[in-house]
Parts: sequence; structure tokens; C-alpha cells
Amino acid sequence: MEVRCFEYPYPARLLFAFIVLFPEYYFVAECNDTVVGYVIGFVERGEVGHIASIAVLPEYRGRGLGKKLLGAIEDAFRKKGLREAVLEVSVKNKIAINLYLSSGYRIVGRMKNYYPDGSDAFIMRKTLGENKIKEENK
Ligand SMILES: CC(C)(COP(=O)(O)OP(=O)(O)OC[C@H]1O[C@@H](n2cnc3c(N)ncnc32)[C@H](O)[C@@H]1OP(=O)(O)O)[C@@H](O)C(=O)NCCC(=O)NCCS
Repeated sequence: MEVRCFEYPYPARLLFAFIVLFPEYYFVAECNDTVVGYVIGFVERGEVGHIASIAVLPEYRGRGLGKKLLGAIEDAFRKKGLREAVLEVSVKNKIAINLYLSSGYRIVGRMKNYYPDGSDAFIMRKTLGENKIKEENK
């Protein structure tokens, strides 16, 4: 998935380390017993939830899976008492930026030369308040 979804995929060993160290922040989306999406994150300085990677296979995009995966990891962060989520995204990745903006993230910084091709990344943050879905279901 990583190789199909990213121009600069994380090495498998790094993803495996995330899963081993932070299994509670690793979610997959399945369709007919096949993994079609995933999100993975970790805790930074004991207080901020950091989303390391999120991806949905091309043929399964545009169906709300990305938003659901993001919601799942945010809920896991909340459960651990974390009140903020952060991530980096390529300034060129309009679709992912839309996903984050429409999920309540805001751009708080820009890192120069973040990617191997020299392109920049936006840093995006979200304050993790109460879960709106849970509120609506009350
Ligand atoms: C980013 C990604 C995970 C989104 O997954 P997805 O399942 O298609 O996302 P969703 O269907 O849940 O859509 C969520 C939001 O993304 C945005 N979005 C999705 N597809 C879009 C498109 N074709 N054009 C513009 N915005 C789009 C919209 O804001 C959408 O919210 P809305 O439907 O309420 O308007 C997916 O495109 C992907 O895997 N991309 C490659 C990997 C990647 O770039 N990951 C992010 C790294 S930071």
C-alpha cells in the first residue's frame, strides 16, 4: 500500500517499528477481508498525537474512508487524554490538505525542503475537543 500510495514511501522497517511501539494508534480499513487503507501515528513528548501516515488505495478513494481513518486515530488520541493532533503534508498534496482542512486542521507552519525532491511540507494541527459524533449520538 505504502509503495502504491506515496511517491516517497516510508521504509517497511519504520512502519513496522511504529506498529510495534504504538499499536493503539494503528488502524486499517478493510473491504472484503482486504486491507484498503491505513493510518498510523505516535505520541510526541507525551502530549501531542502525531499522525505519521494515512493512505487509501486509489480504487477505494472518495468514499469517506480517509475521513473515517482520521476520525479513528483522533478518537484513540482523545482516549489517551491527548488534546492536540499534528501532521505534515506536502504543500503540493491538495487532496490531503482538503481532507485535513475539512476535518478541522489548520496550517500552522511550513518546513522547507522536507521531501527528497526539495519540496516543502505544511505543518497542520487540530485541537482535539469532545468527539462530535459521540455528542450527536447522545
Ligand atoms: C488523502 C487520502 C488518504 C484521502 O482518502 P479518501 O478515502 O479518498 O478520503 P475521503 O473520501 O474520506 O475524503 C475526505 C476529504 O478529502 C478531500 N478529497 C477527497 N478526494 C478529493 C478529490 N478528488 N479532490 C479534492 N478533495 C478531495 C475532501 O475534502 C474530502 O472531504 P469531503 O468529501 O467531505 O469533501 C487519499 O487520497 C490517499 O491515500 N492519498 C495518497 C496518500 C496521501 O497523500 N496521504 C496523505 C499524506 S499526508
